[in-house]
Amino acid sequence: MLKGNKVGLRARHEDDIPVLRAELYDDVVNASRAEGGPWRPITPGSKDPRLVVDDKVQGVVPFSVVELDGGTLIGTATLWGIDNHNRAAHIGLGLLPSSRGKGYGTDVVATLCHYGFIVRGLQRLQIETLSDNTAMLRSAERNGFVREGVMRSSAWVMGEFMDEVLLGLLAQDWKPGSKV
Ligand SMILES: CC(C)(COP(=O)(O)OP(=O)(O)OC[C@H]1O[C@@H](n2cnc3c(N)ncnc32)[C@H](O)[C@@H]1OP(=O)(O)O)[C@@H](O)C(=O)NCCC(=O)NCCS
Repeated sequence: MLKGNKVGLRARHEDDIPVLRAELYDDVVNASRAEGGPWRPITPGSKDPRLVVDDKVQGVVPFSVVELDGGTLIGTATLWGIDNHNRAAHIGLGLLPSSRGKGYGTDVVATLCHYGFIVRGLQRLQIETLSDNTAMLRSAERNGFVREGVMRSSAWVMGEFMDEVLLGLLAQDWKPGSKV
């Protein structure tokens, strides 16, 4: 397990799936804002690749996020789009509603940076998020990510086009443990 200050990033367990499905993926607004695609219902028991991890798939590393103190499941974190030639990847995360706004997101980003830069030897990490997602923008900026641009009207979300902000962090600019 990867350990941050408050969170642990571990493998997906079978027991995690119904909780993540109910609290993240069955929530139409949350799923529509987070996924970059249309929400659709998931058949119970199906091998939805967003939930059921295939360890053979390269290029995506999905984690379940737990509280270090007690091990309660609080969300998901993913390193995706791993490009071993350009040594770059994207990060994404989603916390259960009851676990938001408590500093966990900032710590998840820090822990994903450790995984990307130290464990995987990457040079660049990238985040795309809706321009109104203050909590995600702050979680990224607190870890040293800088805004590199705005992708205007790039996301169709619940009846409207929204802007996305692109943030990047380079290995040489990353200061482990520092919260800017
Ligand atoms: C985005 C998300 C991962 C952030 O994690 P979090 O644990 O809620 O964020 P934190 O508690 O670490 O807060 C980070 C910062 O955002 C601020 N913040 C938190 N919730 C906020 C809110 N609802 N509105 C405005 N600011 C907020 C905090 O005050 C903190 O700011 P600071 O560093 O200046 O003190 C989490 O809210 C979430 O899972 N949201 C739904 C899914 C999602 O949007 N995922 C990202 C898709 S790209």
